[in-house]
Amino acid sequence: MKKYVLVGVGGRSMMFTEAFVEKYKGISQIVAICDINNGRLDLAAKKLREVFPALKCYSAEKFDEMLTAHRPDTVIVATRDCSHDDYICRSLEAGCDVITEKPMTIDEKKCQRIVDTIKKTGRSVRVTFNYRYSPPRSQIKKLLMDGVIGKVLSVNLTWFLDTNHGADYFRRWHSNKENSGGLLVHKATHHFDLINWWLSSVPKTVFARGERVFYNAQQANRCGLSDHARRCLDCKLSDRCNFYLDMRHVPLIKELYLDNEKYDGYLRDLCIFRDDIDIEDLVGIVAQYRNGAILTYNLTAFSPWEGYRLDIQGTQGKLEQLCQETSYINGDGTVQGGFIAAGTSLKIYPHFQTPYEIPVWSGKGAHGGGDILMLDDIFGSPKEDPLKRVADYVQGAYSILLGVAANKSIKEGKMINIDDLVKDLPAPDFEIEQEDNEIIPFVKKTKLMSGGIETKANIPQKVYEKNTFPAGNLRIKHSDIVSI
Ligand SMILES: NC(=O)c1ccc[n+]([C@@H]2O[C@H](COP(=O)([O-])OP(=O)(O)OC[C@H]3O[C@@H](n4cnc5c(N)ncnc54)[C@H](O)[C@@H]3O)[C@@H](O)[C@H]2O)c1
Repeated sequence: MKKYVLVGVGGRSMMFTEAFVEKYKGISQIVAICDINNGRLDLAAKKLREVFPALKCYSAEKFDEMLTAHRPDTVIVATRDCSHDDYICRSLEAGCDVITEKPMTIDEKKCQRIVDTIKKTGRSVRVTFNYRYSPPRSQIKKLLMDGVIGKVLSVNLTWFLDTNHGADYFRRWHSNKENSGGLLVHKATHHFDLINWWLSSVPKTVFARGERVFYNAQQANRCGLSDHARRCLDCKLSDRCNFYLDMRHVPLIKELYLDNEKYDGYLRDLCIFRDDIDIEDLVGIVAQYRNGAILTYNLTAFSPWEGYRLDIQGTQGKLEQLCQETSYINGDGTVQGGFIAAGTSLKIYPHFQTPYEIPVWSGKGAHGGGDILMLDDIFGSPKEDPLKRVADYVQGAYSILLGVAANKSIKEGKMINIDDLVKDLPAPDFEIEQEDNEIIPFVKKTKLMSGGIETKANIPQKVYEKNTFPAGNLRIKHSDIVSI
């Protein structure tokens, strides 16, 4: 049995601890946990000891002692983003492999430290990009690999965090860049990783703009909420504020955070309108990829609905995905990021041909089914994956470097070269040399595009069913056009 330890036992860690005590209890063993908060440590230990009675708890200053005492194979890192690099590097130096939550880290210096330590120790770091495993997003990878729109020339992704989920980043530690890198790192690491992986390429340059336009004092004034307190618990405006969070009445949030404030003073219900927030709630970037594709990306955290709109255009047509998701806040006990079927669609517009709609792959559980599939890949018996969903430190690095460079661009007002940020970073194993040998066979124009969508009964669905991947490589087969 593989031996694990876990550092950081907050909301996200429960995905791992539940996996240890339920589905994977005979396969994987967790021997110790570590955190700065003794209350959360006790809470996690209580659950884990039902299956692992010998489990030990360590305070953060005894992290190295924990590694020496237990000699784990793998350390799972699920602390705040800003401390990932330190725990990753200390674990690697101690001879362990690492599984880290996203983002791998938050800036270029911390990233360099990880790159250098991996080079020195030869150990591995895996980043848990659950979004890649979410079926609708795996489906995009499969379609692009199959070349349904030819060579990708442009990507337009607009991500909407709603006034429930989006607002929650402004209450917690995430609301300061020194903890999270801001939404361009903390949140967009998922989105940029998807784009890198979908395109089998990495970004080269970026220009960005960002502001805090909604979760600020002006918006509080507009809503008649300028007399707000520093935190919800002390606020008299609860009956007039749609953002009011009463931690006393959300059992898991109470148990995890309110009941444990006495150990570290961390307040999980800070006012979203307060002045000391320094992350943006509106960002826009333009980036160019090494394969020439241009990305335009927009993220807002104050949308009335949660989800994204994706347009990818290629040499042979266009792919459009619309995904509406269920909204949640961390610790509220609901399924995180489930897809709402009625608001989710996938359409292909081949050049000069009738457009068609493809049924969207679906899954069960958190993040559109991604968490369950990813856990199976980590703790179960992983099979060869033609989609290459496992992400190593290089992919972890490129997913944050676009956000790190965007943060720099916002600050300095200029375009940033991503290659200048970190030295000795190899190309990701999915990157492919673009061969410009695409041949597009002539297919006579069938009708002029009028913008209408036809749902075709004869869509070649078997090509896109899950688990029917051709044995293959990741080369995008530009000449291998799916006939429609
Ligand atoms: N992949 C996903 O979908 C997903 C979802 C949520 C969170 N996350 C990631 O998981 C990580 C944890 O987020 P969370 O939502 O659980 O936050 P959280 O605040 O609920 O938990 C963080 C835990 O780390 C502990 N901690 C903080 N600093 C520490 C330090 N220096 N040493 C040891 N322990 C420390 C805190 O006491 C807390 O128990 C973050 O990196 C976040 O980005 C990923």
